[in-house]
Amino acid sequence: MNTPSIITFLTEHADKKTVSFHMPGHKGSAVYRRFGYDDFLQKMMDCDITEIPGADNLFQTEGILKAAQEKYAELYGVQRSYLLINGTSCGVIAAVMASVPKGRKLVMARNSHKAIFNSLVLADIQPVYAYPEIISEYGISGGITADEIERCLAENPEAEAVILPSPNYYGICSDIRAIAEVVHRRGKVLIVDQAHGAHLKFFRNAGFTDMPESAEEQGADIVVNSIHKTLASFTQSAVLNLNSDWVDHYVLEDKLQMLESTSPSYLLMGSLDINAAILNEHQTTLMTEWHESLMHFYQEAPAVKGLKVIGSPLDADANISMDITKINLDMSAVGIDGARLEELLMERGIFAELTTGPILMCMTGIGNTLSDSKRLIEALKDISACCSVAAAASPAKTAVTAVLKEKLRLFPVPQDKERVPLLAGAGRICASSIIPYPPGIPFICPGEQLTEEVIQYIKKLRDAGEKVIGINDLGEITVERQLR
Ligand SMILES: Cc1ncc(COP(=O)(O)O)c(C=O)c1O
Repeated sequence: MNTPSIITFLTEHADKKTVSFHMPGHKGSAVYRRFGYDDFLQKMMDCDITEIPGADNLFQTEGILKAAQEKYAELYGVQRSYLLINGTSCGVIAAVMASVPKGRKLVMARNSHKAIFNSLVLADIQPVYAYPEIISEYGISGGITADEIERCLAENPEAEAVILPSPNYYGICSDIRAIAEVVHRRGKVLIVDQAHGAHLKFFRNAGFTDMPESAEEQGADIVVNSIHKTLASFTQSAVLNLNSDWVDHYVLEDKLQMLESTSPSYLLMGSLDINAAILNEHQTTLMTEWHESLMHFYQEAPAVKGLKVIGSPLDADANISMDITKINLDMSAVGIDGARLEELLMERGIFAELTTGPILMCMTGIGNTLSDSKRLIEALKDISACCSVAAAASPAKTAVTAVLKEKLRLFPVPQDKERVPLLAGAGRICASSIIPYPPGIPFICPGEQLTEEVIQYIKKLRDAGEKVIGINDLGEITVERQLR
């Protein structure tokens, strides 16, 4: 195969003018042009500077970067905000390291992102897993309940902090207010990985009470937001919000400077500044337009034969707290699984974010327009009309569940490790997460004992051509070292 250069791929993709229902949230330059940032786009290369006089310093802010951080603190209504140039990934690791001393325990959602598992290894922390509810029809993770956090803290009173994602990748939110009450009653720190929910606060500000409240409003101590995923900044740019005095901000700042590049990109930070300015000036307009285009989709969706939309705001029976900006499509009723639906949409110029078994998740962002929603509906109608029979005849690429039905036995995370072939792993204790990507949520976590069922599942994923992180090119995994 003739592999194109990165730049050929990028420029050709940009020329295709596809519809993006994947990250990043800006969806291209239109939103910057609309609000008068052509100048920045034009001078982008010349704006790529380092810490020259007047440009401030990310790790000791006192000028333009400090001002940008203050804008975010005001936007989110928090004590302090920090610009991040290594994504939410570095923010959650810093938050964990600032809250949990080396060797101590962290209560963490079993469906946490890979970055949080990395923090266990980096800071030598022992996990206590809090299990999410399972949406059994789809085999995907739901929210985490306050009762589950209460159980974990009651069984592990020495744990120092709690971290969980909300919304999760599918948009399902947990009751952070109730969880904060449980965590604070026991004198612990609550960190929320809000990588997928940076926009929630602004929908609520604009009066959309059908959207969940942000974790900041519900009382979490540290909240990390991937601004790039749903709002208008560049990929990798994010914001960490410190929302209480429970964590020493000097310690947090020290961890952040250990984890971030010492050459922070002014393009990323400039894009965060533009995002803040756009939200300050046009928040209500933008959230109203975004909401209108979402409602257009949800209202038209019942007209697509064979389509089910999980968590639709129009579904009177839905009893989950849902961030409706994630559109979860299921066309399995007409024989089309998530992976096939993704291909069929791509043939029509529409790119989605994530497939899991029957589901295809389309991730909307601040840059999507009503016309994108209309294109999606038209494409789905077309697929339903012409492809469902043919698709039913072709085997599903992957139709496997995303989460384990049984909890695995948990042991201390191995410090002494070795690599063994995947197929020889049954009975061994996992030392390094095994992660289908996307969504980047570990299927097997450090400390869990591998079973034959798990091994066969991972083999099936790899045989189906899925990307699975945690297995090297020789097909080996990392487990506890056994004495011979
Ligand atoms: C739940 C969750 N947390 C954290 C991250 C990492 O965020 P970032 O890409 O901003 O580093 C992701 C990325 O997909 C995620 O899905």
